[in-house]
Amino acid sequence: MRVLMVASECYPLAKSGGLADVVGALPPALAALGHTVLVCLPGYPSVFAALDAAAEIDSYPELYGGPARVLRGRAAGLDVAVVDAPHLFDRPGHPYVGPDGDEWPDNGFRFAALAVVARELALGRVADLAVDVVHAHDWQAGLVPAYLALDSRPRPATVMTIHNLSFQGQMPAAWLGRLGLPAHAFGADGVEYYGGVGFLKAGLYYADQLTTVSPSYAREIQGSLWGMGMEGLLSARAHDLTGIVNGIDTTVWNPAADPLVSPPYDADTLERRGEHKAHLQAQFGLDVDPERPLFAIISRLAWQKGTDLLVEALDGAVGAGGQMLILGSGDPGMEERCAGAAAVYPGRVATWFGYNEAFAHRIQAGADGIVVASRFEPCGLTQLYGLRYGCVPVVAGTGGLVDTVTDADTDPDHGTGFVFAAGDALALRRAFARVAEAYADRERWRAIQRRGMAQDLGWTRAAQAYVEVYERAGASRHGR
Ligand code: ADP
Ligand code: GLC
Repeated sequence: MRVLMVASECYPLAKSGGLADVVGALPPALAALGHTVLVCLPGYPSVFAALDAAAEIDSYPELYGGPARVLRGRAAGLDVAVVDAPHLFDRPGHPYVGPDGDEWPDNGFRFAALAVVARELALGRVADLAVDVVHAHDWQAGLVPAYLALDSRPRPATVMTIHNLSFQGQMPAAWLGRLGLPAHAFGADGVEYYGGVGFLKAGLYYADQLTTVSPSYAREIQGSLWGMGMEGLLSARAHDLTGIVNGIDTTVWNPAADPLVSPPYDADTLERRGEHKAHLQAQFGLDVDPERPLFAIISRLAWQKGTDLLVEALDGAVGAGGQMLILGSGDPGMEERCAGAAAVYPGRVATWFGYNEAFAHRIQAGADGIVVASRFEPCGLTQLYGLRYGCVPVVAGTGGLVDTVTDADTDPDHGTGFVFAAGDALALRRAFARVAEAYADRERWRAIQRRGMAQDLGWTRAAQAYVEVYERAGASRHGR
């Protein structure tokens, strides 16, 4: 199958979160199954810095405020089509947010431009480029299925993946015409969403098939608690909605061959993690003590991630004899709360604010438990990296977290981590105590680590599931 993947992030070219990890790793996994994948991306400076052997395949005299070209080449081992539109994408740093910390006001047009280019690639405007299925990710690519369904030309099948329903891409109704959408599409049966143009809504309405990144989240978003206003549409389309748990890139995340982790280790040499732990403790100003369970957080600091619940439960981690290392960035108020908590427990709680890929790897290699306290979590990747690195996941029982971690107290023979009630700081506090107890029993702890490390976390299973969805999309093209 020939797949055109459309996304606003792709690891290692541009990343704000797990979406990038998925878009960077799914194409090679599909390629390994014999499919061809072209990834259509915005031309951020970081993408151009990695782009090789690029040739112009298309151009637009005017695309939302300036001329644009489409370059096809190789970047980070992927076949990419890059939208070279400096007036939209030649901005350093974060993909969506300016230096002032606010979203770029023209994000709607930036990602409409991406969608226009993707539509034309999908409809054969470029000779010798055929597409069987277009796979759009999150709101930034949400207009792609809409543009294609609203176009009279014969089109490929479309699949829309939800990585996070809380980012919806809501734009003013007055932009309808400028977004190239016909007036008749502005309705509940179309792109309209709470009086505006909903990019994600558009994708969810028009795509032939829908997916999200875990079966539990697929169920949760059909209800009012986590449907975020989209539950009506999603439950009406329940038969077209599949939950597929993300894989991880086991070449990037492999403790036995991770250039950021030295010495390397595997399930048989877990004692080497002690060295990594001691380094972390020293580097981040924690007491260097092998006996204390070292918990860690690697996360956006945000309401979704339950950062406030974590701060509330922190005394539980310390009370259980543990330490906590927080690597995160995001909400400045949340950063302040974490810093405040760290000040109360010197030597026991440490923070590092900012985004640092190397620290993320080293923390997975040295910490004992990776804590994910999310209120909702479509899939979550850090608990998967934790499983792979023998950093035992301590997770809220929601979404993809509950689909990927088995509680070691409830199921001692299969336990790979610890699961507590989502949204409940008291349950998290109790979980810290449960973990500390298990940690004190080295044999039991090693068994939990090894079971996690033995899980099949690669992308092959998920890539096969996506292929089935692509096939269904081809068969079910509903032509709305
Ligand atoms: P989300 O995409 O909702 O933020 P995921 O768990 O799916 O959550 O993915 C988060 C990704 O971002 C992981 O690759 C994780 O290692 C990384 N990450 C999050 N915060 C940081 C940080 N401060 N420094 C380095 N990596 C981070
Ligand atoms: C989103 C979700 C996260 C998921 C990631 C990749 O950012 O918040 O749960 O793992 O996308 O699918």
